[in-house]
Amino acid sequence: MVKISPSVLTADFLTLSDDIKKLEAAGVDMLHLDVMDGQFVPNLSFGNPIIKSIKAHTDLPLDVHLMIDRPHRYIDEFAEYADYLSFHYEAGSDNAATLKRIRELGVKSAIVIKPCTSAQAVFDLLPLCDMVLVMSVEPGFGGQKFMPQALEKLSALRDECARRNLNIEIEVDGGINAETAPLAARAGATVLVAGNYIFSAEDMASRVKEIKSL
Ligand code: DX5
Ligand code: ZN
Repeated sequence: MVKISPSVLTADFLTLSDDIKKLEAAGVDMLHLDVMDGQFVPNLSFGNPIIKSIKAHTDLPLDVHLMIDRPHRYIDEFAEYADYLSFHYEAGSDNAATLKRIRELGVKSAIVIKPCTSAQAVFDLLPLCDMVLVMSVEPGFGGQKFMPQALEKLSALRDECARRNLNIEIEVDGGINAETAPLAARAGATVLVAGNYIFSAEDMASRVKEIKSL
């Protein structure tokens, strides 16, 4: 069954601990935490102190998505509370070295590609990854529309992982809702990030169950 990783980017941070309890009860698989630096993406979000607080409130694995310039500078810091730590292919690091460092720190490693980057660009990095993340919107903001070009990339990554006999998670992030979730899962996604669709709902649990059952 497809895994769900709700993104708390558009959550109300003052009531987040209640919301996390509701998401745990609804059976989500991890929590997606978007770190933005105002450089790599035009927006700012939160840093490691907030992630530390969230970690103290939940046993859910934390799926930390770094949208920051030269992410190698911050890997050791974010590895402290992350279970999965992802960073962008385009962000100006020695990507292989950064993936190795994440694993060395005992954290699951992941590389992310923006809509302008091909799936093929990361094929040779896949053996160093526990997860690969395909952006289906331009990174930086929640609530955008799903870009269907992501579907081909998900399938290309699924096929390449099968060809190389690699059992890694394939995650998709941006614009996931009841319409796009089944398309992404059919194309090869094993983990769906969903922000707005879950956090804008009156009843978050029913949205989680809806996506899981599609
Ligand atoms: C966008 C972030 C996403 C975002 C997804 O840069 O990486 O994780 O929160 O939000 P929705 O599901 O609303 O597109
Ligand atoms: Zn994200």
